Amino acid sequence: MKITIIGTGYVGLVSGACLAELGNTVTCLDVQTEKIAKLKEGIMPIYEPGLDSIVARNAQAGRLFFTDSYAEAIPGADIISIAVGTPSAADGSVDMQYVEAAARDIGSHISEYTVIADKSTVPVGTAENVEAIIRETSGINVDVVSNPEFLREGHAVYDFLHPARIVIGAATEPAKERMLRAYEHVDCPKLTMDRRSAELTKYAANSFLAIKISFINEMAEVAEVLGADIGEVVAGIGSDPRIGKDFLKAGPGWGGSCFPKDVRAMRHLAEQLGISLPVVDAAHKLNQKARVRMAKRLESELGDLTGKKITVLGLAFKGNTDDTRDSAAIEMINYLTNRGAHVIAHDPVAKIAPADLNGYNLSQVSCPYEAAQGSHGIIIATEWEHFRKLDLLKMRRLSSGDILIDTRNLFNVDIAGQAGWKYISIGRKTYEATSGASC
Ligand SMILES: NC(=O)c1ccc[n+]([C@@H]2O[C@H](COP(=O)([O-])OP(=O)(O)OC[C@H]3O[C@@H](n4cnc5c(N)ncnc54)[C@H](O)[C@@H]3O)[C@@H](O)[C@H]2O)c1
Repeated sequence: MKITIIGTGYVGLVSGACLAELGNTVTCLDVQTEKIAKLKEGIMPIYEPGLDSIVARNAQAGRLFFTDSYAEAIPGADIISIAVGTPSAADGSVDMQYVEAAARDIGSHISEYTVIADKSTVPVGTAENVEAIIRETSGINVDVVSNPEFLREGHAVYDFLHPARIVIGAATEPAKERMLRAYEHVDCPKLTMDRRSAELTKYAANSFLAIKISFINEMAEVAEVLGADIGEVVAGIGSDPRIGKDFLKAGPGWGGSCFPKDVRAMRHLAEQLGISLPVVDAAHKLNQKARVRMAKRLESELGDLTGKKITVLGLAFKGNTDDTRDSAAIEMINYLTNRGAHVIAHDPVAKIAPADLNGYNLSQVSCPYEAAQGSHGIIIATEWEHFRKLDLLKMRRLSSGDILIDTRNLFNVDIAGQAGWKYISIGRKTYEATSGASC
């Protein structure tokens, strides 16, 4: 099939490359001409494991193309998939300007019946709105389906090719059949439903996962006070199939480009409908606390942070990605620098562009040991595998202080403590380096 993907970001580029891998002929379109020029040269605009090789293989095989021209990308496509950003607006609603612009541009270039798939995460009712925009602009009969994406950054290629399910919300049989054909070589349940249910499925999924994480973070605080180990508790409850082990990792709260904005959108939607969502609201509130809890803990250990040098290891919202959107690391840096600290950060891949520094007193270095030099306290904010291999004795020798806060529980408590740290992690005992005692 001929498929066009509008928006060549984390979702669009991965979807395009994987749909080409499945045998389709795919054109990826983006309004960022520089991004497209780089992709034509084989340069990836994002860090995503395995993406460069799948893009190269399919481009070479003549199944994957890149363009910044709607006139080139739209005619002749069997399916046009919209994968542009849907960020939060100031009031928590979804900013639909990119989806609507894409719909208008599709409408201006379309000349025959086509299926349009909303892959972006969009409010309930969007498929109907996008259909109306395209039909009004073009005068052509099109079908718009909802085809939400569930991939995880850092595992995106694998997730796209091996999904737990594919959701297709369609209003007509021809549209449903065409979508099923595009995914015929993907071995997973394909759930077909009405469009509104498909759109709500995505928000319900992300809200539920966010609730799971907030719940375990709540339990982690209890474990810290009672001297229990949250990892053991998760093993204990996660082995119950009714609960499951996934998304029960205590940490610095959920972040990234999806959960925060999708939970905000869910809450905003409920407000519009006059429905209260106390469970979702509680998860959101708990998360705001979780994201700065360990920065506050560092402040309580060190006292006044003015002039203190603090090391933050990790900028990305999670390991294996360069995405810093709504990252807990950034929120911690915000908290620390607002209180006068100078933060030295290291992330193996992610960088904060000078334009996005927001006035933070932040330096970024390429080596974790350089980041630790003369530091009064260290926070591990992202679960890069790379950090598990750090030489904690060397870090301790380089550092001026002995506080190591690990929001990702990367180290064994006793080993970190024996390396000379007051090692504070999430939902576990604190190791006091001087006494070997725990509290
Ligand atoms: N990132 C994820 O892990 C993930 C997972 C599932 C779903 N989603 C959803 O997928 C959507 C895309 O997310 P993303 O992270 O890939 O965003 P992104 O910001 O990485 O990419 C969006 C791309 O769309 C392009 N774009 C914007 N307007 C355009 C237009 N009118 N025409 C053509 N291109 C245009 C931008 O230039 C950008 O390259 C969002 O709705 C998001 O919620 C994201």
